[in-house]
Amino acid sequence: MSKAATQLRFYDLEPESNTLHDDVLDGLSQPQKHIPPKYFYDEHGSCLFEAICETDAYYPTRTEMAILKDNLEEICTCLGSDCVLVEPGSGSSRKVRLLLDELEPHTYMPLDISSDFLKSVAHGLAEDYPHINVTAACVDYTAPIALPYFPENRRRVAFFPGSSIGNFEPEEAVTFLGNLADLVDDTGGLLIGVDLKKDPSILNAAYNDKEGITAQFNLNLLAHLNRELGANFDFDGFDHRAFYNEQKGRIEMHLISKRDQWATVAGHRFHFSAGESIHTESSYKYTVEEFQILARQAGFSPRKVWTDRDGLFSVQYFEHAD
Ligand SMILES: C[S@@+](CC[C@H](N)C(=O)[O-])C[C@H]1O[C@@H](n2cnc3c(N)ncnc32)[C@H](O)[C@@H]1O
Repeated sequence: MSKAATQLRFYDLEPESNTLHDDVLDGLSQPQKHIPPKYFYDEHGSCLFEAICETDAYYPTRTEMAILKDNLEEICTCLGSDCVLVEPGSGSSRKVRLLLDELEPHTYMPLDISSDFLKSVAHGLAEDYPHINVTAACVDYTAPIALPYFPENRRRVAFFPGSSIGNFEPEEAVTFLGNLADLVDDTGGLLIGVDLKKDPSILNAAYNDKEGITAQFNLNLLAHLNRELGANFDFDGFDHRAFYNEQKGRIEMHLISKRDQWATVAGHRFHFSAGESIHTESSYKYTVEEFQILARQAGFSPRKVWTDRDGLFSVQYFEHAD
């Protein structure tokens, strides 16, 4: 067994494919058709998300990385070395590498729904950090996270970067954060990246990159459904649309039907009028204060906030409220 293999555990708790089936049929049957954003992430979707992060317009990734780098020492002091660091929706685990270099946790637990992508990332981490236990699990974090293994008697800290919290409706965000509060327990903490409210032109540009990668990412959802549910969506029949809904404080991403058409999904036929949309993602933006209110409702106390000079993005640290 290689050295890396001794440090790596992998648990496949991937949701049943009937969850996808039920979610999609239910979402497409609503007056405003919608599909949960977690279904963007097949292996190709995960790669496309990484490519979005490299575009000029998509400021969140580079801004959050810069905040982490600029405040690394202080952040690591908050987290405490030798902890168990749990990252739901870990993706490429690129950001956590900054922390792993400095923090040296006892265990790092990347959790993601994109199983093959997670496996290859976890192997890379175990190779590069042979002194850290890497325990990866394919899970759907929208349900309470029950991990089959947790090192005993160690402080747990959740790391949730990328402003993925914005993909939840605010009341769902409170439920999710409450699940994280339960996961990290009384002595634990939460380090979370939260995208901030700002000039809508910056937001609109970020979700409409001129390279068209966000459009490919959005349309790849249909490819995922064609493959997994035997659907017959015509990719050329839909356009990507993303805009900031100022009243709701969120970016909305939609697929717009270019013409009157039908698609069959798992044997069920759905009609799409010309111009009709499938709502594929929301990305809520918060002020620091608005987000702290949500986190308090979920059982966390604010401890520290770091932002970039332009106030585009925040990294916030919370501890479990007593
Ligand atoms: C926007 S990416 C962020 C990746 C990374 N955390 C970052 O900040 O760059 C979202 C990640 O969460 C994963 N994800 C999305 N929905 C999920 C769910 N319901 N359960 C588990 N993972 C999920 C995706 O596969 C993807 O890797």
